[in-house]
Amino acid sequence: VKSEIIEICGAGFHYDAVVGRGLMARSGALSGELVRGKRCAVIADEISGRLFGQRVCQSLTAASLQPLLIAVAPGENSKTFAQVEMICGQMADAKLDRSSFVVGLGGGVIGDLSGFVAAVFHRGIPHIQIPTTLLAMVDSAIGGKTGVNLPAGKNLVGAIHHPVLVLADLDALEALPPRELRQGYAEIVKHGIIRDAEMLRRLRARKIELPELIRRNIAIKARIVSADDRETSGERALLNFGHTVGHAIERAFDFRLPHGDCISLGMLAACEISTKRASFSQIEREEVVALLRQFELPTRLPRDISRGKIIELVGPDKKFEGGAIRFVVTPRLGEAHVSRDVTIKDICAAVENL
Ligand SMILES: NC(=O)c1ccc[n+]([C@@H]2O[C@H](COP(=O)([O-])OP(=O)(O)OC[C@H]3O[C@@H](n4cnc5c(N)ncnc54)[C@H](O)[C@@H]3O)[C@@H](O)[C@H]2O)c1
Ligand SMILES: [Zn+2]
Repeated sequence: VKSEIIEICGAGFHYDAVVGRGLMARSGALSGELVRGKRCAVIADEISGRLFGQRVCQSLTAASLQPLLIAVAPGENSKTFAQVEMICGQMADAKLDRSSFVVGLGGGVIGDLSGFVAAVFHRGIPHIQIPTTLLAMVDSAIGGKTGVNLPAGKNLVGAIHHPVLVLADLDALEALPPRELRQGYAEIVKHGIIRDAEMLRRLRARKIELPELIRRNIAIKARIVSADDRETSGERALLNFGHTVGHAIERAFDFRLPHGDCISLGMLAACEISTKRASFSQIEREEVVALLRQFELPTRLPRDISRGKIIELVGPDKKFEGGAIRFVVTPRLGEAHVSRDVTIKDICAAVENL
């Protein structure tokens, strides 16, 4: 497979996302000209570090760079200030400085954590993203959002710090468990619903190969964040499709149900609401159900989970600015907009029906 380059630019940032094979083994040569100094921290979790750490570090070393591999425990619990302090401490001890850079090698947890480290170490050094999950390739590595969690909630502390390069190496996906692959497909279906009906048709017919699928999804997210990287014009809000109800489900399950699974259900609620408040058709809603099933994403909420609790948790969501509900609806597959016509009753009805 020949690699493909997607150029991502907006106000004050400009970088390439490369999609292809063998990119980790070429990461040194690809990084070299984008950075000033030789020292860098390769931040991974124990799984991505074990699988790919050596490949990346060897390539960096071969390009006369000096990598320091730092691995944290896998999982969301590593996205903390404590880890940021530990990592920055190790970097300082190894004499990394303002001219150094950070390579994030892992899924979205590592991308967010390493990106935040890059944003704050010496007030900001370059960040290279090597996403190793499908979700990280099509979603979290693009857009510049970085950060960590607080006990009070997820992603409450962070910075916008765009990477200087994203390397989406398809080789990484070979080791990825089906459950993790599915998490990426949830966001891919979301991108299709808001921006790309043709991609959805081809997914349904299984007539799209992984390299093109990833390239297309990076392009969709890139176009949206380039227009609105700091969430001012409302464009970026479209990426919240399915997330108002999805986040409430996630919290109702106390984060025991993975994010993509919750978003799958949240998107179905949003589709249901769109049949009422936009001109979305029942037939299109059925198409979304079929597509989610195809990727083994859940389409029914377990009976024993309280609908009331989910509805309660929808309330304080940030989409309710100034009292009016701002809810992302789709009038037809491939299009979306923010609606102010959605009522809390619409949301209740959609959640009851899940
Ligand atoms: N910054 C953003 O814009 C943005 C967007 C979406 C999500 N996120 C964040 O992304 C995180 C979720 O990311 P994720 O789903 O990638 O989770 P993750 O980083 O926890 O990775 C999932 C699991 O897969 C393992 N893994 C990673 N690569 C692998 C590989 N190639 N083969 C086998 N196993 C591998 C990891 O060790 C981990 O156990 C959340 O913290 C979320 O907040 C950020
Ligand atoms: Zn999401």
